[in-house]
Amino acid sequence: MYKQKCVSLEDTKALAYKFANLVKEEGCFVNLFGEIGAGKTAFVKLAAEALGIKEKVTSPSFVILNEYHSAAIPVYHFDLYRLENVGIKTITDELREYSEGKKITFVEWAEFSQGELPFERIEMNVKYDDTDDSRIYEFQAVGEKYKKVVEGLKN
Ligand SMILES: Nc1ncnc2c1ncn2[C@@H]1O[C@H](COP(=O)(O)OP(=O)(O)O)[C@@H](O)[C@H]1O
Ligand SMILES: [Mg+2]
Repeated sequence: MYKQKCVSLEDTKALAYKFANLVKEEGCFVNLFGEIGAGKTAFVKLAAEALGIKEKVTSPSFVILNEYHSAAIPVYHFDLYRLENVGIKTITDELREYSEGKKITFVEWAEFSQGELPFERIEMNVKYDDTDDSRIYEFQAVGEKYKKVVEGLKN
């Protein structure tokens, strides 16, 4: 597990750039959890910028999935906020396809969902701390595959 406090958007940018550098060759599947406004989309935008995505990255809340193909590796950005629990179950099999091959997939989950998925991934949790307006970003590898990415964030 890796945990980092980001007191400014610049801190989050440095973290997202470091993350992008660790996943840009092999790809990654990331689940993002956290309250609305915590900083999930902000992280995705900064990581996409670091990867060289030229298009404007917007929150996919209304379309569920946005995809970007202007960098060396494709980036897929899901936001499941608008799906009910039953909808999340139906999308699980589809998500598996996005966890395979050289691509980077970010999935923003609704707070109420458990996000139990049958494949390897990184789970990122963002917490907002209103005492100092900071964000705590936490990364956990589920399975062996992404352990070295989480370890790499420590350096
Ligand atoms: N350190 C920080 N890390 C991430 N976002 C920050 C930070 N400081 C301020 N913000 C702002 O907080 C908001 C986070 O919103 P967003 O990323 O859309 O949240 P979420 O996707 O988790 O609902 C953005 O407007 C962002 O600019
Ligand atoms: Mg969001």
